[in-house]
Amino acid sequence: MPNFIFTTSQVGAEPIIKEEITLQFPGARLAFSRPGLLTFKLPEENIQELESREQPLKSVFARTWGYSIGSLRGETVDELIPKLWELTGETRFDRIHVFGRDLHKIGDYKFEPRLTEEAYGLCEKLSNAYPFDSLKAKDQREPALAGELVLDVILVNPIPPARVSEFLARREGGDLTEMPVPNRVKKGKKSKKGDDGAEKAPPRHEWIIGWHRVHSFQSAFPGGMLDLEVPEYVVSRAWLKMEEAVRWSHFPMFDARVCEIGSAPGGATQALLSRGCEVIGVDPAEMAPEVLADPKFRHIRSRIAFVKRREFRRIRWLTCDINVPPNYTLDVIESVVMHPDVNVRGMLLTLKFPDWNMGFEVKDYVSRIKSWGFNIVRARQLHYSHQEICVACLKKPFRK
Ligand SMILES: C[S@@+](CC[C@H](N)C(=O)[O-])C[C@H]1O[C@@H](n2cnc3c(N)ncnc32)[C@H](O)[C@@H]1O
Repeated sequence: MPNFIFTTSQVGAEPIIKEEITLQFPGARLAFSRPGLLTFKLPEENIQELESREQPLKSVFARTWGYSIGSLRGETVDELIPKLWELTGETRFDRIHVFGRDLHKIGDYKFEPRLTEEAYGLCEKLSNAYPFDSLKAKDQREPALAGELVLDVILVNPIPPARVSEFLARREGGDLTEMPVPNRVKKGKKSKKGDDGAEKAPPRHEWIIGWHRVHSFQSAFPGGMLDLEVPEYVVSRAWLKMEEAVRWSHFPMFDARVCEIGSAPGGATQALLSRGCEVIGVDPAEMAPEVLADPKFRHIRSRIAFVKRREFRRIRWLTCDINVPPNYTLDVIESVVMHPDVNVRGMLLTLKFPDWNMGFEVKDYVSRIKSWGFNIVRARQLHYSHQEICVACLKKPFRK
């Protein structure tokens, strides 16, 4: 049993993850740190406790986590593969997940966390070279199943996603084939010198090796990334966020009556309509015509503060995605759900953080929501969340 754990996350969330972990395990020490990828050394008894917990690591901001068993460095993949099998020994894994750490903040250089061709290709290569016949699948597009044991290979220096390289090439006015190899030696840090005194470039490949057991929705996907395909008819990226939020929460939002606060232009509405929901969208901005044309959709073109609460009498589910700080979103929601004419069973809320420090306040936001009678409240920075979290809130049992 190794004494290390790893977490991957968005770039910017690392200080909050450090706090989340040291609050649970005061003896935890940061071992390895790169933007988007941390490892911690934990006292032996903490590791045993983690293994025995039903809901192992409590973290809102870790996209994925697992036990770390070491790292490998080298110039070629072929040179690393036998070393990988040495490290994993006799353990029989059910799957191999390969994914890169986030190289940039979301949005910088058009960066979005995704599973890249490099990650898919390497997963296939490692799966084909795996010395035992225990693997359930060799393609990591297929989600892992609950209870399965997954070998995690995290690329510390992944090839940047194509959209980042294209963006940089366009900005430099250059040609993609002439893209410089990124300099991986940090500014101000001395680069290592070889025997001949010449500067040694850092190795091309550096992998953190770990494992996890599938224990949650997110842990079934490589690096906690769903990699959904966006259908052509979809009008905004918010479709991805709603799809992921509904799947993660396991809320039965089929044929349901939903009010969406901040619905324009309508990608999230489309995800709900495709589940047979009846949707009232509240937004002063324009909805896309194809969403307006759906007979199960009604647009109230207004800010939420001016909408009569009796409009929500039949509503049982509420979603909210408005671009204001968390406390304002919560004021808005409180004014709706605490009204005597309104009886909401569950909510999917986006809380946006104009400042990452607001991420340290998540406990307070959750307590406030619980004080309104939602006894089950879960918060998480989902794969498709930007600088924000998704909060799933439920009244259970629910009295109509
Ligand atoms: C991130 S966009 C929502 C994206 C949308 N859910 C979709 O699927 O395309 C945020 C929206 O919140 C709306 N908004 C901001 N403040 C609002 C308020 N007080 N009441 C209703 N809508 C609001 C904005 O007009 C904007 O269209």
